[in-house]
Amino acid sequence: MSTIGILAALHDEIATLLTAMGPDVVTHRIGQRDYHVGMLSGRKCVLVLARVGKVAAAATAVTLIREFKASVVVFTGLAGAVADHVRVGDVVVAKSLLQHDLDARPLFAQYEVPLLGRSYFDADARLAALLAQCANEYLNEDLPNQISAVTRNSFGVDKPAVHSGTIISGDVFVSDTAAVAALRKDLPDALCVEMEGAAVAQICYEYGVPCGVLRTISDRADCTAGIDFGAFLAQVASFYSAGILRRFLGCYVGELQ
Ligand code: ADE
Repeated sequence: MSTIGILAALHDEIATLLTAMGPDVVTHRIGQRDYHVGMLSGRKCVLVLARVGKVAAAATAVTLIREFKASVVVFTGLAGAVADHVRVGDVVVAKSLLQHDLDARPLFAQYEVPLLGRSYFDADARLAALLAQCANEYLNEDLPNQISAVTRNSFGVDKPAVHSGTIISGDVFVSDTAAVAALRKDLPDALCVEMEGAAVAQICYEYGVPCGVLRTISDRADCTAGIDFGAFLAQVASFYSAGILRRFLGCYVGELQ
């Protein structure tokens, strides 16, 4: 049976999925991370907290692939909106990912990963389509029952939508109106910004492992970005990640069953 590697960027996202794995989980501690091996929706999964930032996420992705033979890597977490039409409470599924803070000019073009000759790393198209479908189903069918209207309103979550496109990553929490405006201008295709996805996509590219990245929008990456981050994660985003992933695992049929 193939193994699905599930990376989560933040602690609250792991907790619900770990509970759903039941009592038969085996936990391996490697490089100060706990890799939880068990079954989720009938699929063999390895669930791990990637921690924050590109180095942390890349190291975790390598371990999933090398030590646990993950044949697919799926990454969930939060992101700040960059595109005007992306709103708090929306979901973004990556079609491609880029490191917005990578700049080895004049030796290489801005954003280009030296020696790989590319800036954008594609998510697996089949995984992306399935994640988007499951996110839409989650928002339409589960969200109204899981998160009260009062809570949704308190975070300004209103008729959330699913977007597919470019996610940009860098080792910086963007919480400045001028900084997010600069990203919008320099990378007009960017839907949202986070701190890990493009690093995981690069590792998956290098190892030839299909990769899917899904982000819940927690903020507008401006001066209000840090205010409700923890509360949003605990009260909204952790439900999204678990709900969407459970749907995804329920209908995902891997190559090597
Ligand atoms: N993750 C969630 N919000 C973010 C932001 N504003 N910048 C970077 N990563 C994020």
